[in-house]
Amino acid sequence: MSAPSPGYAITMRVEAPAQANSTATITSVISQAGANLTALDVVESSGQRMVVDVTCNATGTAHADEITAALQEVPGVTVGKVSDRTFLMHLGGKIEVRSKVPLKHRDDLSRAYTPGVARVSTALAEKPEDARRLTIKRNTVAVVTDGSAVLGLGNIGATAALPVMEGKAALFKRFAGVDAWPVCLDTQDVDEIVSIVKAIAPVYGGINLEDISAPRCFEVERRLQAELDIPVFHDDQHGTAIVVLGALENALRVVGKRLDQVRIVISGVGAAGNAIIQLLLAQGAGSIIAADRHGTIHRDQNHADPARQWVADNTNAELLDGTLAQALAGADVFIGASAPDLLTGDDIATMADQAIVFALANPVPEVDAVEASKHAAVVATGRSDFANQINNVLAFPGIFRGLLDAQASNVTNDMMIAAAQAIAQCVAEDELNPNYIVPSVFDESVAPAVAAAVRKVANPNGEPEA
Ligand SMILES: NC(=O)c1ccc[n+]([C@@H]2O[C@H](COP(=O)([O-])OP(=O)(O)OC[C@H]3O[C@@H](n4cnc5c(N)ncnc54)[C@H](O)[C@@H]3O)[C@@H](O)[C@H]2O)c1
Repeated sequence: MSAPSPGYAITMRVEAPAQANSTATITSVISQAGANLTALDVVESSGQRMVVDVTCNATGTAHADEITAALQEVPGVTVGKVSDRTFLMHLGGKIEVRSKVPLKHRDDLSRAYTPGVARVSTALAEKPEDARRLTIKRNTVAVVTDGSAVLGLGNIGATAALPVMEGKAALFKRFAGVDAWPVCLDTQDVDEIVSIVKAIAPVYGGINLEDISAPRCFEVERRLQAELDIPVFHDDQHGTAIVVLGALENALRVVGKRLDQVRIVISGVGAAGNAIIQLLLAQGAGSIIAADRHGTIHRDQNHADPARQWVADNTNAELLDGTLAQALAGADVFIGASAPDLLTGDDIATMADQAIVFALANPVPEVDAVEASKHAAVVATGRSDFANQINNVLAFPGIFRGLLDAQASNVTNDMMIAAAQAIAQCVAEDELNPNYIVPSVFDESVAPAVAAAVRKVANPNGEPEA
């Protein structure tokens, strides 16, 4: 059973007799039901009765119902309204637009809006390249999705994707001061997505593609990169690849191995797997063998998806033909970006000494982290409840901060490698150990370090714009 999580927190309004043992009884029922009590706030009190808001973390919605039912059974206790704290947080959405200029007087209005603004618009009509100086473009990113591959939920559509994109926008602001706005498109047609994003591009200094399913995401990104003069970055691909490369560099330092000498096995060649392979190869990885649900991929096969064919042509030099588990024997590194529970501890035991395992399938990794750690020297997952969480939030805020500051028109492998190295270097030599190969997602130094690294590559001679 999974542990109680703030993601499943509830607040129950409970009425109970004003007896000495009332709150102790509530506390003990909650704890016996397996929940974590986090707050008990008295709302009303009299000589006979008291009303308290009881807040606790559950393991899921069914567990929350069980906790409520257990309290309801206590003699004299009545459970009133039960609020889901995650839904409460979403009421009215998570982000907003605020004016940066005062609008108190007629003078303010005349400058911020008509008639003054007309002169600024005229200036931009004559010189559109000043848009970054005179508009929000310099600090604004579109978070574009078609809702086709949202988290682990699959193709849930544009409206259902909006809370995720709002969250992403909030993270952009929190970690890098970037004004990101959700653009959830009610179409999954590649031509339409490309044409809409091109049409809205004047407002934005960058496009963050998000949760668009593979292989369509490859074509959408490639076409937009070719046709737009602002950076286009699919975070599920490159954000993941950057954090994986940074984490792998540190894991290799822990075990004393080199990227160009290790044998790497990768499960999954979708959005994440594909980008991981490309970035590792760009950084000089010596041996990569990729596998999907049909086994290892090699150049003697023909794949309809050009991205998969690229993997077939550029990896697995030894033409190993077999299952994922067979490929794993003797490997130094396993990176999973595929599906839950594909491997056991016994499979990990067949890897080389001092093996590195990154099992990133979310929320259930390719191999149980505890089982893997019995045989591997370093284990990382995408989860927050294990050590070494591989989380894209380490990359995307700083990447876009750097791209916007440098007024970059594209994003290159060199920038991504520099970003990965910046993330790796946020773990100091004396902090590095098998349980600490990536900085915390709350490490305030990460986004500025990533931004500076990207800026340096994008604009080697220039200073960030004031
Ligand atoms: N930071 C992170 O931890 C992080 C980042 C990105 C993705 N992920 C996780 O990685 C996984 C893949 O994400 P994606 O966006 O690349 O998805 P995707 O759908 O684009 O690709 C999934 C890939 O896994 C393969 N696959 C599916 N089932 C398989 C099986 N049973 N055996 C072998 N291969 C199988 C598919 O063929 C495909 O190549 C997801 O679980 C996702 O949550 C984690």
